[in-house]
Amino acid sequence: MPRSLSSAARLRLIALVLAMLALGLIALGGRCMLPTMVSCSATTLFGGPKLDVPYKSTRRDVVALMLEMGEVKAGDTVIDLGTGDGRILIAAAKERGATGLGVDLDPVLIRTARAAAEDAGVADRVRFEAVDLFKTDLSSADVVTMYLLPEVNLRLRPQLFAQLKPGTRVVSHAFDMGDWKPEAKRKVGGSTVYMWRIPQTPPATTQTPR
Ligand SMILES: C[S@@+](CC[C@H](N)C(=O)[O-])C[C@H]1O[C@@H](n2cnc3c(N)ncnc32)[C@H](O)[C@@H]1O
Repeated sequence: MPRSLSSAARLRLIALVLAMLALGLIALGGRCMLPTMVSCSATTLFGGPKLDVPYKSTRRDVVALMLEMGEVKAGDTVIDLGTGDGRILIAAAKERGATGLGVDLDPVLIRTARAAAEDAGVADRVRFEAVDLFKTDLSSADVVTMYLLPEVNLRLRPQLFAQLKPGTRVVSHAFDMGDWKPEAKRKVGGSTVYMWRIPQTPPATTQTPR
């Protein structure tokens, strides 16, 4: 700090720097204060790929219901779309003997999921990749799980019908699939879980060109 500055000027300078720091922090925090944003990953906070859905984790009781409704069993391949910290896929592997793939656009969450899989002792049975769910090949799935948003579910629907084999279970936390009626709908602790089974032919109302 220059020696020539009076103490009043120094105080003003320090106050200015502190105010700029505070404004910067508020601007960063504002990224996490969107109405749909309940929790915020480091990527969201500091910038990163544009997400179709903000991060919010699924409660453990909801995860358990999703696996039950998806009839997840040993040997099944589960694909978890927008996997976050990987908790759904990790529970599928650890508690039900499944294998699978979790995808998320947020590379920080993907690193978290890989570390969680190591900790849970299932790293050899699950894979986490930082890729767009809309660019993911779903054809190997026996079960697809998701916690996305209503309009994202609707955008995904043609991909589900085009790529999934008949009989594949699709499980969604919180949001339905518009006019594709679920086979089952259940609640736990105020949260809703939906389950569909891919039919031999897509229902007429949901048919889209392949
Ligand atoms: C509501 S969170 C669900 C997290 C986790 N599945 C759970 O239930 O705990 C949605 C996740 O989707 C991810 N996401 C958003 N758009 C995506 C996209 N186009 N492709 C892959 N992941 C995406 C976000 O980064 C976020 O982690």
